[in-house]
This record gives sequence, C-alpha cells and structure tokens, in this order.
Amino acid sequence: MIQREVIDNILSTARIEEVVGEFVSLRRRGVNMLGLCPFHNEKTPSFTVSPAKGIFKCFGCGKAGNVVNFLMEHEHFSYPEALKYLARKYNIEVEEEEQTPEQIEELNEKESLFNLNFFALQYFSRQLLETEEGKAIGLSYFKERGIREDLIRKFQLGYNPKRRDAFSKHALENGYNKTYLVKTGLSVESENQLHDRFHERVIFPIHSASGRVLGFGGRILSTEKNRPKYVNSPESEIYNKSKTLYGIYFAKTAIIANDNCHLVEGYTDVIALHQAGIENVVASSGTSLTHDQVNMIRRYTSNITLLYDGDTAGIKASFRGIDLIVEQGMNVKIVLFPDGEDPDSYSRKHHPEEVRSFIAVKAANFILFKTKLLLDETQNDPIRKAALIKEIVLTISLIPDGISRSLYIRECSALMDVPEQILMNELNKKLREKFKKESPALAQETDALPVSPAEPVPIQPFDPNSAEYQEKELIRLLLLYGQEMIKLPDGNEPPQEIEVTVADVVIHLILSDELSFENATYQKIFNELVKAREKETTPERDFFTGHPDREIANTAVDLIFSPYELSRNWIKNNIMVETETSRLQMHIRHSVLAFKSKKIEKMITGIQQKLSGPITPEEQKTLLLSLRELKEQSIRINNQGLGRIITH
Ligand code: UTP
Ligand code: MN
Repeated sequence: MIQREVIDNILSTARIEEVVGEFVSLRRRGVNMLGLCPFHNEKTPSFTVSPAKGIFKCFGCGKAGNVVNFLMEHEHFSYPEALKYLARKYNIEVEEEEQTPEQIEELNEKESLFNLNFFALQYFSRQLLETEEGKAIGLSYFKERGIREDLIRKFQLGYNPKRRDAFSKHALENGYNKTYLVKTGLSVESENQLHDRFHERVIFPIHSASGRVLGFGGRILSTEKNRPKYVNSPESEIYNKSKTLYGIYFAKTAIIANDNCHLVEGYTDVIALHQAGIENVVASSGTSLTHDQVNMIRRYTSNITLLYDGDTAGIKASFRGIDLIVEQGMNVKIVLFPDGEDPDSYSRKHHPEEVRSFIAVKAANFILFKTKLLLDETQNDPIRKAALIKEIVLTISLIPDGISRSLYIRECSALMDVPEQILMNELNKKLREKFKKESPALAQETDALPVSPAEPVPIQPFDPNSAEYQEKELIRLLLLYGQEMIKLPDGNEPPQEIEVTVADVVIHLILSDELSFENATYQKIFNELVKAREKETTPERDFFTGHPDREIANTAVDLIFSPYELSRNWIKNNIMVETETSRLQMHIRHSVLAFKSKKIEKMITGIQQKLSGPITPEEQKTLLLSLRELKEQSIRINNQGLGRIITH
C-alpha cells in the first residue's frame, strides 16, 4: 500500500501532458492538446489532453481518464505500478511495504530461475548461429521450413546439440546450480547424472508479456516415431502453461493497435504469420484456451480470431471451449483453413498478401458460424432443429452483455428461420437456470414471479426534465464545484454568514431527505464523496477522474468534459465576490431542487398507479396518507430558499 499523502503528492506533481507526451505526439489546440489516439487506429487526431483538468479523452473510441488511467490502459500497469512509475519519473520517494524473509527467498529463487533461462537462451542461440553442428542441423532445418533469419533472431530461436549433456555440463561449469537446472527442466536427472531435456532439438523460447524467458519448447528434427515431436519445459515457479501464451511479448503492441488478437495452435504458426505481416498473433500451444489465457488477451482487446486447421470435426469438438471464451465477454471470430493446412503450411504456399486477405475474408462470427454449421446438418429434421435451437441459445445465453444477446437472437432467428419470440423464450429459460445456479437463495425468493420475455430496451430520447438528466447535473455540479466555498446565512437572527463547501451543501440536502440516485455509478460517486467528507477531506477532482473503479473514472471524465459548464471566471482564487456567489448558489439551488422534485414526482406517480389497481381499503388509506405527505413535501421544497434548507 502506498500512503494516501504520497499518492496525493504524486497526482499533484505529475503533468498529464508530459506523461502522455512520452507515448503520443501532442500538439496544442486552444487550451487542450491533441494527438493520434494510441488506443485505436485513426488518421485524424481525436485524442484530447486537458493539462488544466489533468485528464485525457479520445472522442473517437471513448477511452478517458487521468494520468494514472492512461498508464494503466497504455502500459497495462496495475494501479500501484502506475503510481510507482510516476513516482520514479518525478523523483518522489515511495515507501514500499516491508517484505518477509520468505518473500525475499521466493523472489530470489524466481530470479535465479529467470537468470538460468536467460543463460540457456543465449547458449541455444549461439549453438544455432555459430557452431558447425547447429548451422548444419538446426539452422538448415529452420531455413528448410522457410523461416527467415530476421524472424529467427526476433524470436530468439536456438539449438540444443546432440551430445546428451552438452548444455548441462556447460551450465555447471559456469557455476549454475544443479537444483535450478532441474527446476527449470533444462536438465533431467537420472542415476545422479544430468542430461539435457532438449538435446538434439531446435528451441522455441517462451517469453512472458514483458519479455522474460519463462521456458522453452523443443522440436525434434527427424521423423522419429518413438520420441514426441515437441517437448516443453515442465511447470515451475516461473512457468505456468495455463497462464502463458506463446508470442504475447511480440504481439501485444499489434493487438492493441488492431484491437484484435489472432489465436493459433503452434509455435511455427505464430512465426509464419509474423513473417506474413500479421503480428497480432499468439498460440495456446496445442490446448484449448484457459480462463487465464483469455483474461490475458482481454487486457489488450476484447476481439479474438481463432484460426483453425480445416476439418469440421475438430472444430465441433472445440465448440464448448469456445463457449467459455464467449462467456468471458469476448467477441469471437473463426477462420477455417483449407483441409489439412495450418496457418504455417498455408503461409508457405501463399504470398503474404494472400494470407492476410484470406484471414480477413474468411473471419466469421463464431455464433453465426456455429449456427450455419449445425444448421447444415439438421437437413430440415424438426427434432434435430429443436436440439440446434437449444444449443445455439445456450451459447447466446453466455454472452454477458444484454444488448449483444438480443442482436444475436435476431440474427439467428433469421438464419434458422425460427420466430424471434421462440428463441427469446428459450433464452429467458436459460438465463433463469443460470441465475438459479448462481444465486439459489435469491432465485427461490423470486420464483413466484412470472418470467417475462426480455423486451428490447427502448433508447431514451434526450429530455432535460428527465430524472436521469437531473441526476447527471447534480453529479456534474459536485465534480466541478464540490470544493468551492460559498457563503450562506446561518439561520440566526440577525443572520450571520457562514462559509461552507458546495459539496457539504449538496450532501446535506440530499441526505436530509434520504434521496438516492437511480444511476448506480452516480450513487457510487456520491457515496465516495460522503465518505470523504466524513473524514473531513474534500476529494480533488483527480480522486474521481483517476479512481481505480473504471466506471467512476470514466463517468467523472465524461461529465467534466461535457460541453457546458459554469464559467470559471466567476471564481477568482477561490474567493468569490457577492454576485458570483449568488449565481453559483442559484445553480446549486436549481439543481438540487430539480433533482428532489423529480424524485418526489416519481414516488407520487408510483402511488397513484397502485391506487388505481386492486387494493384493500386499509392499503388505500395508507397510500393516500403517503400521497398527501409527498405532495406537502413537494410544495415545501418548491417554496424553500437554499439558505433555509441548509440551516433548518
Ligand atoms: P502441431 O502438432 O499442430 O504442431 O501442434 P505444429 O505447430 O504444426 O508443428 P510443426 O508444424 O509440425 O512443427 C501444435 C502445438 O502443440 C504443441 C506445440 O506447442 C505445438 O506447436 N505440441 C504438439 C506439443 O507440446 N507436443 C507435441 O508432441 C505436439
Ligand atoms: Mn505445422
């Protein structure tokens, strides 16, 4: 944990234009700076940095935040990592948490394993490029497969000689410890002898996202039947196969720039696609994607394109696995290669341009692809078609986003020639089953409720009198002027003026009537503000625009960037002259009252609706009483002056 004061110090010292300027070239335009967005491909700049407000926003892709969010987004730092980066840049001292001796030892051991792997990487590379045996056997193998020398160097490919203990002996002679040789799996111990796991194989180093060597894959050169084609490093403290993607280090920039990641099966497929100019590609190394691997890709993009060898049986077998990717909120596309070809073999037979256009043209949305493939097999057999509907709807039900679900229901209904409502009913059934499984207690309570088909959500027209608009105005007011001081009469006779912050006034007004926000993010922002005020601090704007909760940060930036705000000229050096005070006061008064009367109006409508339904006379009486109270409250609010509300 970094101390709050240190965080504040870092945030107030860091200049957003300086930090962003290291990654994006910015030009001044008016009070803002403008550049090409690093988060999506664009030709005309829409990436805006406001030095005064300390925030950035891309009007093309919508990414927004403060300097910390920028680093988290661009460099994939965690929140503390981003702060530490800034601290280093601005020479601010950050006290680290103390580490236990066990933690230090673990760290040391990991470092030793990484060191040994790096030593091995250099050895294998030298063997491949500089020795007779390596050149004759390893290098000629890569050349035969059509791998260019620049790619061999980029991926740091290597060769482990024939002699069974060549590497192990070399490592021991250089002072490397036997324990670590065995732990990294570079050496295998039998009868007290070390020999090389990868002897007589070409080597594919496996890098972490930050470029460190986690382990190796070694391919056999001959077509020997009794040795496996590939051997890989065993799991160790630094290598966890299910959390690793081959090629991620060389792909991440291209994944971000293209907002898409290709997934292939093998080491050679990754290299072949790079050679064809497709650099946003990683390999799962022969297994289906794990949850952790999907999460790793999702740090960079939510679009994934799976490249499959062309046999439909293989694809059908992986449908379940792909469902898990859909469930994690990824948009999945599929490319089928011609029968018997993998991306590597296809690339060897075609021009790079052909490879790229083949992938672009063939990429089909997974859900629609699956629907078509299974539909072909039903051949109008109604029983099989019913099974197909269930199968497709099951996949759709896994999509976290409701709007996407509705869109797929519509498209699949057209593809399968089945009424949308039938698919919708099936979808609701599935969603309900899922809900029951995930929260059985809640499901029991709501079991009595009828299941209604999910209605498409109508898009709300913009209405300045809507409750949503009023809520937004109030939060915007808090974000922009929460820290300003205003003077109010204190309610004594004769009245004395007291100085309070805008935040205090608004909080008081809302809490005193026990009102809340319908928009969950606005409520979160309000709660954070209340918490901070209880501790007698007024959060800087940065507190919200740089909030670790992305929803809060994005909303705050959007509100602050919105086109109209009170003129800053009203406020000079935090001291406001008479007339300026009263204008801000009027604005607060207006926003709070509008917010309140909207709430009350809504409650009144609710009661009126209940009154028109079937109710008992007792219920009617209670409702009428509440109605009267609300109406009185509404009159009171509309007649109240701000000064009296705050001091009553
Ligand atoms: P493939 O058998 O499709 O190999 O396995 P490939 O990538 O096309 O290899 P080449 O073209 O024959 O050289 C795909 C991936 O599965 C893993 C490897 O990561 C391989 O790249 N694999 C395969 C193993 O780990 N062990 C094996 O014995 C085979
Ligand atoms: Mn292959």
